[in-house]
Amino acid sequence: MKFFIDTANLEEIRKAKEYGLIDGVTTNPTLLAREGADWKKQMELICKEVDGPVSLEVIGLKADGMIEEARELVKYGPNVVVKIPMTMEGMKAVRHLADMGVRTNVTVCFSAAQALLAAKAGAAYISPFIGRLDHLSQRGMDLVEEIVAIYGNYDFETEVLVASIRHPLHVVEAALAGADVATVPFKVLFDLAKHPMTDLGIESFLTDWKKVFPDG
Ligand code: E4P
Repeated sequence: MKFFIDTANLEEIRKAKEYGLIDGVTTNPTLLAREGADWKKQMELICKEVDGPVSLEVIGLKADGMIEEARELVKYGPNVVVKIPMTMEGMKAVRHLADMGVRTNVTVCFSAAQALLAAKAGAAYISPFIGRLDHLSQRGMDLVEEIVAIYGNYDFETEVLVASIRHPLHVVEAALAGADVATVPFKVLFDLAKHPMTDLGIESFLTDWKKVFPDG
């Protein structure tokens, strides 16, 4: 399973990279807006910082506009994946971009029907937003399981990129469901490593060692 980091913050990307666990980056307009005014420079720096795929999202809602934006976005680097919203206009853009050889990530997906359309259109990734579904008392992971099953039935090449992740259990359940990618917020990446029994285990080993070898 691949791990992407869900951020537009360079410090977070650099720190996460140090651990060698990050295969790519996803951004969105909210995350980029949070980083300040020079979003173009920010996108350029992110694409240079990361070897793997970097999702950059279009703002337009019409297919022609999305395609124009995509032509500009891919100039930021060979690793750019153009994020396209899950609409019929978006699907038109995805098909066109796939035919041009541009990889796309279909975003704000909330149903298996939408995911089926995205795969038919030739998306490289589908992004089901599971945290936002959970907030509506609808189990987001059910959607991931449905998409994985449907794609498996027809050998679609579209990768399932689980998005809107809130905590480590989302990552574990996404892995159990057979999702290809989890895009994790910076904090969740570190939460994945935590367990109080691990801390206690390390502490007791060191205590025992120091009893016999107090000088280290
Ligand atoms: C994914 O690519 C999105 O950027 C992200 O996961 C959105 O999730 P949110 O619900 O945390 O905004």
